[in-house]
Amino acid sequence: MTGAESELPAIEAERIGYAYPDGVAALEDISFHAAKGEFVAVMGANGAGKTTLMKALMRLVRPQRGQIRLSGVDAARMPPAELYRSIGMVFQNPSDQLFAPTVEQDVAFGPRNLGLDEAEAARRVDEALAAVDAAPLRSRPIHHLSFGEQKRACLAGVLAMRPSILVLDEPTAGLDPVSEAQMIEMLLRLNRQEKITLILSTHCVDLLPVLAERIYVLRRGGCSGSDRRKKSSPTPAPPPKPASACP
Ligand SMILES: Nc1ncnc2c1ncn2[C@@H]1O[C@H](COP(=O)(O)OP(=O)(O)OP(=O)(O)O)[C@@H](O)[C@H]1O
Ligand SMILES: [Mg+2]
Repeated sequence: MTGAESELPAIEAERIGYAYPDGVAALEDISFHAAKGEFVAVMGANGAGKTTLMKALMRLVRPQRGQIRLSGVDAARMPPAELYRSIGMVFQNPSDQLFAPTVEQDVAFGPRNLGLDEAEAARRVDEALAAVDAAPLRSRPIHHLSFGEQKRACLAGVLAMRPSILVLDEPTAGLDPVSEAQMIEMLLRLNRQEKITLILSTHCVDLLPVLAERIYVLRRGGCSGSDRRKKSSPTPAPPPKPASACP
């Protein structure tokens, strides 16, 4: 990587707009970026477009307007294997993500799909399960797992691809306070030790936006994202008040 390339943001969305096939305008003129290794929170009320934005970043929906770039490269033109090596997404609902009979098979799916041999796929599974403190779940059937365990299995499946950018849709929603604290600790470890760029959505005013280095707020009607840097601030300022907040 040249010096110039390392200066480029990990991900940039420039004036993207997306309407679903039924005409619902979910994203309108959204601009957004995350520097390499940054921790970014995307906040907004229900229906503000958080999930749609995350899906657009993953190319699961294709914006009709604007451009998304990964390290300066137009994501729309990236071969799928290259895209999914760079960026991985953890869905809000584990049942949208998990599909194999056991945790091990699910986590190994991505590495196998990359064409890695069985020994390397097994190494990736070990490493990913360890990263989310889920080694004991390895041979468990997915349908026996609790919601919190399923969330960890989802995160492990994405980490097994070793992405440099991790997109998480409401990663703490539905977790009890202990599991929520553990999830936050895991995410901070991945960001601070593994230098993974984190982009996560939340509609809650919980710890996540307080810990984030940059916050974007999506508003219903989709006008634009606004951002706020906190790195230079000695004491974190309170996060902006979203239109709806968890109790
Ligand atoms: N498949 C779809 N078809 C049509 N409209 C959709 C579809 N998915 C989402 N929408 C609409 O797009 C808008 C944005 O939805 P989105 O799910 O991105 O919001 P969100 O911020 O993630 O909300 P939540 O906090 O409830 O998860 C909403 O008006 C929603 O009704
Ligand atoms: Mg959502």
